[in-house]
Amino acid sequence: MADQTTSEAYENIIVRRQNRVGIIQLNRPAAMNALNSPTMAELLAVLRQFDRDDGLGCTVITGSDRAFSAGADIKQMAQASVVEMMAMPFLDYWDQLLHIRKPVIAAVSGWCLGGGCELALACDMIVASETARFGQPEINLGIIPGGGGTQRMARAVGKALAMEIVLNDRRLTADEALRYGLVNRVAPVDSYLAEAIKLAADIAGRAPVAVQLGKEAVNQAFELLLTAGLRDERRLFNALFSTEDQKEGMTAFVEKRAANWQGK
Ligand code: CAA
Repeated sequence: MADQTTSEAYENIIVRRQNRVGIIQLNRPAAMNALNSPTMAELLAVLRQFDRDDGLGCTVITGSDRAFSAGADIKQMAQASVVEMMAMPFLDYWDQLLHIRKPVIAAVSGWCLGGGCELALACDMIVASETARFGQPEINLGIIPGGGGTQRMARAVGKALAMEIVLNDRRLTADEALRYGLVNRVAPVDSYLAEAIKLAADIAGRAPVAVQLGKEAVNQAFELLLTAGLRDERRLFNALFSTEDQKEGMTAFVEKRAANWQGK
């Protein structure tokens, strides 16, 4: 089948669709893709739109080869008071990523710092270029991560390394990030995005409802105690037997043919 690619214009992001993969590129090159409210609002709006689009199965979020994102926009926050920060919906955007049902893969090259690193950590998988550098440098600004970095980094790489990253601006190379389990794979800078899109296309070609419930079940591992997580997984597993795709998938196996997924 010929590749079908379309693109749409936004102010701070570039949005493309390539067959069943949605691609969102952060596009604030003059600010190293720093994340301000309008950028996060556009990003979340498109992710929600993709969630509702049966023609799409998986999303890739990327930046430029030089910077995935240098973090929250420091210029937006520099003079804010505590009350203004509490009233600002800005950091809520990171929480809202939790409610995206389809898988999201971050394709990361260059700087991936602060809120940018927290955005990548809030995605379901990370494909990194060899030049990717991960860090939470908020300590240099007299603050700590506010978009989930302390929690997700500790879960991803363990307490000891997370402490160094958060308290002492320790930055991880792509190879270190791979070794510590932060990223799924590392590729050369000229192919990391294609790798991420290929991974997304593979996932987007699978049974859509099972993919969404699989994402939900794995994420529960980070929310619940083991017994509650296991109970939840069993419920989601059993629920999939009400889908046509489950019947089709098992029938296709027995008939030794490829399954034809309907997302129903
Ligand atoms: N916010 C706003 N603008 C930023 C930015 C940010 N996070 N990061 C970079 N920029 C801007 C710079 O101000 C500069 O703009 P001007 O040309 O107008 O001066 C432009 O992007 C290019 O940056 P540099 O000249 O600094 O480029 P560099 O190659 O020398 O360094 C860098 C790149 C290492 C990423 C460096 O810019 C840097 O350290 N940036 C800040 C990283 C940071 O502290 N991130 C945490 C932010 S706080 C946060 O994210 C809180 C949270 O948890 C949600």
